[in-house]
Amino acid sequence: MSIPDDNLAALDLLDGAEQGFTLSVLDSSPDCIKLLEMDGRLSFMNSNGMCAMEIDDFAQVQGAVWPVMWPQESHDALADAMAEARAGRTRRFEAFCPTAKGTPRWWDVTVSPVRLANGEVTRILACSRDVTDIVTAREQLREQAMLLKAEVVLKDAALARQKVLLGEIDHRVKNSFSAVIALLRMQARIHADVDAGPLIGDAANRITTLSRVHEQLHLDPESGFVTLTDYVSALTQDLGQALNAHVEFTNHVQASVRVNPSQAAAIGQLLAELIGNAIKHGGKDRRTTVWVDVSAQGDRLMLRVMDDGPGLPADFDVDSVDGLGMQICQIYAQQMGGALTYGASPAGGASFDVDIQLDATSVGFS
Ligand SMILES: Nc1ncnc2c1ncn2[C@@H]1O[C@H](COP(=O)(O)OP(=O)(O)OP(=O)(O)O)[C@@H](O)[C@H]1O
Ligand SMILES: [Mg+2]
Repeated sequence: MSIPDDNLAALDLLDGAEQGFTLSVLDSSPDCIKLLEMDGRLSFMNSNGMCAMEIDDFAQVQGAVWPVMWPQESHDALADAMAEARAGRTRRFEAFCPTAKGTPRWWDVTVSPVRLANGEVTRILACSRDVTDIVTAREQLREQAMLLKAEVVLKDAALARQKVLLGEIDHRVKNSFSAVIALLRMQARIHADVDAGPLIGDAANRITTLSRVHEQLHLDPESGFVTLTDYVSALTQDLGQALNAHVEFTNHVQASVRVNPSQAAAIGQLLAELIGNAIKHGGKDRRTTVWVDVSAQGDRLMLRVMDDGPGLPADFDVDSVDGLGMQICQIYAQQMGGALTYGASPAGGASFDVDIQLDATSVGFS
């Protein structure tokens, strides 16, 4: 191997002091640098190396076979690296070896050939860098990652259990709704000839919509909340199909908005009453079109339900109507810190606005 021309100037500067210079370089290195004979015996170790290996006197290790100084499990890696160096190649590996005083240490080891000017390999240079801190930090990170993984697995299992439980509760609530509806319908049939008959039928219808609201009330098992737009969109579609109306849903609320389950149930009930009214009073012999719009302003939510029916009666007064629907809407609107207002829709039908204040537990509002 020849010395590059640019480096020849350095040799001039050293002016024959190369040996002393080489020793200074070796001693200034923070690494543990060893010179080995071809058979692996230790001939030299720099002073920082002795310090790193906690060797007080080089005589303790001089002539010792280097691989033998390492724990058994590293012998193969060392033998391989030395064979490579003898063949003129460099090998790098990481291994554990305690110091002479038993302090545990990890080393990043580079084993390379030392050649004569003619290229012949005459010795082996082993340079070990103490990487104990890095390896320890890496181990800690690995342990933390494993702990995190275990936590995620536990959380997933808890979520899965919660999902099953929610499914089970859902199933039971549905069954209870069906049983109540069936019972009321039976009673309505039995009392069909008296005044109470149709009223019992109305109650059965109302509980049917309530069960539909419940069916669309899908809780996110992780947050326990309901995604508002998904819920309203599914509910309006479901009610439209069930009541044979054309329901168009427009959404102006961010997809991330979530509301707590009791608010979601109240919103669902309000929409069910208003959509039900639009269809019931929207003109008996035709397919009514209902527009449902949801928008938000700050932490207030606006629900609008409009139809293309005949519109509200001229003497309509929400506080003096006989029906239950308007009362339910007013109660829910008030409960949620809002109000129910009404007027005419652009299509000439009725228009109802419910403006509600969502409570602090709702998320995603800007
Ligand atoms: N979309 C609408 N179009 C026209 N009139 C409506 C509309 N919504 C409500 N009304 C009028 O308001 C009245 C009161 O509605 P409300 O929902 O309280 O009772 P209802 O629908 O008659 O009966 P219930 O809801 O108890 O089954 C209705 O009878 C109807 O005259
Ligand atoms: Mg009604």
